[in-house]
Amino acid sequence: MCGIVGYMGHRKAAPLVLKGLQRLEYRGYDSAGMALYENQVVSLYKTQGKVADLAALSNFKDANQSIGMGHTRWATHGVPSDANAHPHSSNSGELTLIHNGIIENYEALKKLLVGKGYVFHSDTDTEVLVNLIEEVQKSHQYQLGKALQVALSQVVGAYAIVVFDTKKTDELVVAKLGSPLAIGMGDHEYFIASDASPFIEYTNKAVYLEDHQLAIIKQDRPPKILSIATDTFTDYYIQELELSLDAIEKGGYKHFMLKEIYEQPRAIKDTYRGRLLVEEGLIKMAGVEEHLDKFLNTKRIIIVACGTSWHAGLVAEYILEDLVRIPVEVEYASEFKYRNPVISNQDVVIAISQSGETADTLAAIKLAKEKGAFVFGVCNVVGSTISRATDAGAYTHAGPEIGVASTKAFTTQITVMSLMALRIAMAKESISVAQFKEIVNELELIPQKVEIALLLNQRILEIAHTYKTKHNCLYLGRGVNFPVALEGALKLKEISYIHAEGYPAAEMKHGPIALIDENMPVIVVAINKGYYDKTVSNIQEIISRKGKIIAIVTEGDTTVKELADHVIEVPETMECFSPLLTTIPLQLLSYHIAVLLNKNVDQPRNLAKSVTVE
Ligand code: AGP
Ligand code: GLU
Repeated sequence: MCGIVGYMGHRKAAPLVLKGLQRLEYRGYDSAGMALYENQVVSLYKTQGKVADLAALSNFKDANQSIGMGHTRWATHGVPSDANAHPHSSNSGELTLIHNGIIENYEALKKLLVGKGYVFHSDTDTEVLVNLIEEVQKSHQYQLGKALQVALSQVVGAYAIVVFDTKKTDELVVAKLGSPLAIGMGDHEYFIASDASPFIEYTNKAVYLEDHQLAIIKQDRPPKILSIATDTFTDYYIQELELSLDAIEKGGYKHFMLKEIYEQPRAIKDTYRGRLLVEEGLIKMAGVEEHLDKFLNTKRIIIVACGTSWHAGLVAEYILEDLVRIPVEVEYASEFKYRNPVISNQDVVIAISQSGETADTLAAIKLAKEKGAFVFGVCNVVGSTISRATDAGAYTHAGPEIGVASTKAFTTQITVMSLMALRIAMAKESISVAQFKEIVNELELIPQKVEIALLLNQRILEIAHTYKTKHNCLYLGRGVNFPVALEGALKLKEISYIHAEGYPAAEMKHGPIALIDENMPVIVVAINKGYYDKTVSNIQEIISRKGKIIAIVTEGDTTVKELADHVIEVPETMECFSPLLTTIPLQLLSYHIAVLLNKNVDQPRNLAKSVTVE
């Protein structure tokens, strides 16, 4: 995610773009940039850091330009740096472009452009796009709009882009696929942004571009919107917005946590985008490819992480051992460092961290590297300390996670680890081609199955009303859903302050069953996989002690339905991917209970989003 802002009108563009970028910083802020245009003169300002650092580059008091664009970056390709900040210019300097999204096939396009003599000054996929447009324009003598159409037909990925051409100084051209782009419809002035927050005080009239649409924006007339596929201009609907600024930042959701729970289908898709090539029957992950020998020759994989990331590591243990047949150990990073572990240069250590700044995980990485292990990072923040401290890595593309309670990081971490397991398993031939195809086909369906699971929201709110007054809660799961039980308990603890514990379902009879009575709600993940019958037995043991049961089951379940007090059905999927679905109702349950208890859901007491102290 990132923030894009554009303006064409009668006001000074600089202050308006800067203020708009500040409003969009919640969408990601590792670097920022702005371009101002007056006739054919482009004034470009870019810096690593926040929008405040961009604003400090100049006082802009003499900046009278009334056309401009700005970008606050959340890097996907190329670490945060001045050179990688947007806007990016084409080789001729005539085109400047800002981009929110990912160009999946940028490497192939870059190779083609380098072959034609183009040079690149950044590591971004975006700079490839702006030069592709230039190449199309020059080789066909097209106007910008047409050149953009043709160039985008060669692009695979997601984008919301704004382009300016010094050869046509009275227009801005925008296009959208997969990333949001709103046009603020003022009186002889037009605004462009990722959402309405940058322009809501100037106009509440907005047009939201649809996928595969391009718009040509001029100051003297309303925008023309084109369907790229049919090359025909299309009518459009002007919305009258009644959202507050705060509501816009949260995408209309009450809290960032709820917004991020609902972003998971898109986040999972963005995480496997460009890596899961179902048609070709391939998994492509540069960080794994370059060090495949380490994964193929190691005798052991050690996963180090904290909190929710540690739970994702436990899920990964089941998936990796099942598919790759290499022993996997999962360690609390904080414990790993202080127990004098046995580590050799034959070991592969995988460090999982959403923030990429967790001190305990960093300390574990340092120890592993001192002992000669190969360390691979799975982070959500490009250029974060952990991503730079590891020998290689793979990013989750979840976008900024603002809510302290981690949600989309958990599901995208599992997605990355599943992709890694599949890539290594194919190289080791520890699974057949048929098995590989079956698994990747199912992974591709997960985003839409998560969408279905999210439809449970209202049902879960009703259940939350019943259990919001409880003081204790037990979460049970088996196999790959035991970590889901741990994660569900952590979510409830950290945002509602209700004590909750997760256990392997079978472990209940070794002690925790003493806790069961009519005041102890028990959430049981009881999907219809391998150990289902034993989980049903656990449910019966709870019922015989008057425990209240909320069961997460596979849709169509009839057995547990007869036993539990509340049954939540999630779509059928393969066992290895079931955590991506069973965790959704648990995230929603903890969210609704916390809201009903009037807790500070996005910033719970005593917690920080990133624990940068040991
Ligand atoms: C999870 O909801 C918590 N916010 C916390 O446990 C978190 O997962 C943990 O601090 C690890 O953070 P990281 O993924 O950024 O390393
Ligand atoms: N993929 C582009 C980059 O890494 C844009 C990322 C974003 O949406 O901020 O620069």
